[in-house]
Amino acid sequence: MSLQGKVAIVTGAAGGIGQAYAKALAAAGASVVVADIKDGGATVAAITAAGGLALALACDVSDETSSQAMVRQAVDHFGGVDVLVNNAAMFAGVAVKPFDLISVEEWDHMMAVNVRGTFLCCRAVVPAMRERGKGKIINVSSSTILYGTPLLLHYVTSKGAVMALTRALAREVGRWNICVNSIAPGITLSDAVKEHPRMAKWDAAVVQSRCIRRSEFPEDLTGTILYLASDASDFVTGQFITVDGGTSMH
Ligand SMILES: NC(=O)c1ccc[n+]([C@@H]2O[C@H](COP(=O)([O-])OP(=O)(O)OC[C@H]3O[C@@H](n4cnc5c(N)ncnc54)[C@H](O)[C@@H]3O)[C@@H](O)[C@H]2O)c1
Repeated sequence: MSLQGKVAIVTGAAGGIGQAYAKALAAAGASVVVADIKDGGATVAAITAAGGLALALACDVSDETSSQAMVRQAVDHFGGVDVLVNNAAMFAGVAVKPFDLISVEEWDHMMAVNVRGTFLCCRAVVPAMRERGKGKIINVSSSTILYGTPLLLHYVTSKGAVMALTRALAREVGRWNICVNSIAPGITLSDAVKEHPRMAKWDAAVVQSRCIRRSEFPEDLTGTILYLASDASDFVTGQFITVDGGTSMH
């Protein structure tokens, strides 16, 4: 599953699971754009220390001008784009609360980043992929949508929208050899989860629901990302791939 000569954008890759995706794509040979509202310098430093190529770009995925500028700079710097991983999301620090305590502002912000951000980055990158004659878009959903996790209604709803967007977009862009798939992690011990007052406690309970009875780590997801980014998955599109140790079977 070599990505030699490919260019990959990973949004939300300044840390957490996105950083693991960026490092894995670079290790497979891709030049990687680390796009985040936070400073992506640590991810770029880790990739270059390992002999890879990476560029950090400041980007707010929920903003049209910012997402367009990010893709334009990626093309200017690396000559094109082959892979987009829409990983950025409102996740770390999301308050766990009953649905009727979620304010309209919190709801709208969640949808702006997780749903509009995914849409805007897809829209920005498709022309560059058409130029290349093919492309791979990987949208990060969550296995939480299959369970219907309570007390995170805005988050769960947004990740359901990401799955629906993936399916409908795959039908529109397949004619240009662009594959669009979603990956659905289970609860994964990223820094955001380890530091979260409630989510860290959920991990122990979720482990009991798995076929493979252990915690999930960011590195458990990178093999699926590499597969979906590489030529090995050229006839796979519109799919929702759950990587959660077998809690949900879809
Ligand atoms: N950790 C889990 O248990 C888990 C489970 C299922 C799905 N996911 C999904 O995996 C992805 C990564 O999760 P994580 O645990 O690393 O979370 P995280 O909160 O650590 O990472 C999210 C990243 O997105 C960036 N970001 C936020 N808003 C942005 C914006 N407007 N523009 C650009 N970047 C922005 C953040 O700065 C951060 O680097 C998210 O999409 C999350 O919903 C995580």
